[in-house]
Amino acid sequence: MQFPIDKFQHLRTPFYYYDTALLDQTLNAIRQQLLPNYHVHYAIKACTHPEVLRHIQESGLGADCVSGGEIEVCLRAGFPAGKIAFAGVGKSDWEIELALQTDIFCFNVESIPELEVINQLAKKHGKVARVAFRINPNVGAHTHEYTTTGRAENKFGIAMEDMVGTIQRCQAMSNVECIGLHFHIGSQILDMEDFSTLCLRINELQEVLESYRIVLPHINVGGGLGIDYEDPDLHPLPNLEAYFSTFKRYLQLRPGQQLHFELGRAIVGQCGSLISRVLYIKQGAVKQFVIIDAGMTDLIRPALYGASHKIQNLSSQEGSEVYDVVGPICESSDVFAKDCPLPLTTRGHLIALRSAGAYGQIMASQYNCRTLPLGYTSESL
Ligand code: LLP
Repeated sequence: MQFPIDKFQHLRTPFYYYDTALLDQTLNAIRQQLLPNYHVHYAIKACTHPEVLRHIQESGLGADCVSGGEIEVCLRAGFPAGKIAFAGVGKSDWEIELALQTDIFCFNVESIPELEVINQLAKKHGKVARVAFRINPNVGAHTHEYTTTGRAENKFGIAMEDMVGTIQRCQAMSNVECIGLHFHIGSQILDMEDFSTLCLRINELQEVLESYRIVLPHINVGGGLGIDYEDPDLHPLPNLEAYFSTFKRYLQLRPGQQLHFELGRAIVGQCGSLISRVLYIKQGAVKQFVIIDAGMTDLIRPALYGASHKIQNLSSQEGSEVYDVVGPICESSDVFAKDCPLPLTTRGHLIALRSAGAYGQIMASQYNCRTLPLGYTSESL
C-alpha cells in the first residue's frame, strides 16, 4: 500500500487512514463472487467511518447490526432498512421498537424469551416481525477464544436440538414470522474447513426440518472470513474465491432459498491503518523501546486478543534494529509488538500499524482522558 506521507505530516497523530481504492477493489471482488441469490450484509461493528460506509452502501451491500445505535448509523448512511439484519443476544426494548418501526429485513433471534418480547412489541405496534433463529452449530473455529462464537459453551444462539420446537413455538405466535436460519461461528477464520463443516451442519439441520415440513426461505451463514495480518501487501484482499466456493460446493440450498453473509473484517480490515508518530526511543536494561503516540486506547486488539498488526516505519527504511513497540498508556499490556525488526527508528518518524481497518477505530476508548482518533480516507486528504 502506498501512503501519502507528505499529506500526513501536518495531521495530528494518531489517526486512522483508509485507502478507499483498496476498499473498492475488495467490494468489486466480492461482487464478482456473488450468485443471484447471494446477499452480503456488511457487519458494521467492524468500522463505521462515514466515508467507508458510503463506499460499502454504494456498492449495494446490506448491513448487519448488533445495536439500535448501529441501525441508526446504517439508516443515516443510506442503507435501505430492507437490507438490515439485526443480531445480538441482548436486544433492549427500544432497539426492538426502532427495528420494528423502520421495518428492517430481519431480527436474528437468539432465545425464546427474546422471541416472546419481539412478538409482544410487534403486536403493540401492529407489525409482524420477520425473524431468523441464530443456531449454535457447535462448530469450533480455529481462532482466538474471544472470537469463537459457535461452540456449545458460548452464550450465542439456540442449540440445534431445540430448533424444531423453537420454530413451532414461533409459528404459534401471531406477530412474528420465521423466515430463516442464522449461523455465525467466529471471526478471523482462515481454515475453509471450518466453513465446510458449518455447511454440513446446516445441511443436516435442513433435512431434520424438512421431515417436519419446514423449509425456510433464508439461510444466513454469518461472517468470519479472515485476512492476512502478517503480510498485508502480499494479500491485500481476503481469499474470497476460497470462501464463496466453499459455500457453493458444500451448502445444499433448497430451490428459491436465499443465502446471506455478514462479512466485516474481510471487507474493511486491510484498507485501514493506524498512523502514529514516534515520541521517544528508550534504551531499557534489556530492551530497546519505540514509544509511539498511539496506544491501546486507539487500537486495542493486541492488548485484548494478543493480536499482531504489521508495523511499518513510513519515514525511513535505513538500517535495521529490533525494538519493542509500545504505547503511552499506563498499562503493561499497552504493547503493539515485542522484538520487532524495524529500520533504525528515531523521534518524529511516522509508523503505520497495518490491517487495522476492522475493529480498530470503532473499538477506541478515551481511557487516560485521551481524545478518540480521527479517521481520514485517501480521498479526503
Ligand atoms: N455476524 C455476527 C453475528 C458477528 O457476531 C460478527 C462478529 C460478524 C458477523 C462479523 O464477523 P467478521 O466477518 O468481521 O469476522 N473485535 C474482534 C472481532 C469480534 C467479532 C464479533 N462478531 C476482533 O478485533 O478480532
